Amino acid sequence: MKHLITTKDFSKEEILALFKDAKEFLDEKPRELLKGKSITTIFFENSTRTLSSFETAAKRLNAKVLRLDVSRSSSSKGETLFDTAANLDAMNPSAIVVRHQHSGVPLSLAKHVHCPVLNGGDGKHAHPTQALLDLFTIYEHFKGDVRGKKVIIVGDIKNSRVANSNIELLTRFGLEIILVAPPHFMPKTSLKQFYKLDKNLIKQSDVIMSLRTQTERHQKQIYGSLKDYANDFCITKDLIEDQKLIILHPGPVHRNVDISDEVLADERSLVLKQVKHGVAIRMAALKKVILEQ
Ligand code: NCD
Repeated sequence: MKHLITTKDFSKEEILALFKDAKEFLDEKPRELLKGKSITTIFFENSTRTLSSFETAAKRLNAKVLRLDVSRSSSSKGETLFDTAANLDAMNPSAIVVRHQHSGVPLSLAKHVHCPVLNGGDGKHAHPTQALLDLFTIYEHFKGDVRGKKVIIVGDIKNSRVANSNIELLTRFGLEIILVAPPHFMPKTSLKQFYKLDKNLIKQSDVIMSLRTQTERHQKQIYGSLKDYANDFCITKDLIEDQKLIILHPGPVHRNVDISDEVLADERSLVLKQVKHGVAIRMAALKKVILEQ
């Protein structure tokens, strides 16, 4: 059984095949590939993009979607996750997509059900489909020539599952990662790191991946204000000037904290393209885990 819990679950060859499928799915035509299949989504943590992206992907492949409304489900009545899982499993879904505020839940769930589990984000741990769509966006932009490209990841890296998954995946594909964050948002790592964004650093880069400050994961307020943070880490036109690079962000964007209005409207900002690519990547991932048993 194939699950997608972290990016490590797919080999390089599998990912390249996934990109090939995703590229075809960019035509947004409905397909019958998952006709008769049923996909359950269960999101214990808020989501705008990921949930709707997975559901759009499933429907575009003609699968049925059952969304478990967690606020109304029995977990809010004290049922354990595993009893919930056993009950879900008894309905015999073709795959389950789960998001949870605690790291490790998708992996535990995978051990208790009889269908593939796809991780829609677990705590600070992993968000594999986000990293796959990010790499796919870079791959498409540079027409497959990604080896040696320099990627600055800037923001709340330590608390970000998106950063975690991207660091694993992008490194494996030969991209060079540079981390930029205040010391309290910097993970322990041997990657190159800087505590401030400056023009020199940006001049050497091909991609800037900006991340949201994960305020919901902070025990206490760390920065004086988001404005102080923005002064040091917001991507502005003044910083990027007319340089040839692309700017990514997984969303939701804190406007003028993570990226300025002006840069978001710039053609180098591929934030909406990432959303479009996300549906295609999730179609390819659902197809893979459900059909390649
Ligand atoms: C991210 C997430 O939830 O991990 N967003 C997303 O999935 N598009 C990043 C975030 O919340 O900042």
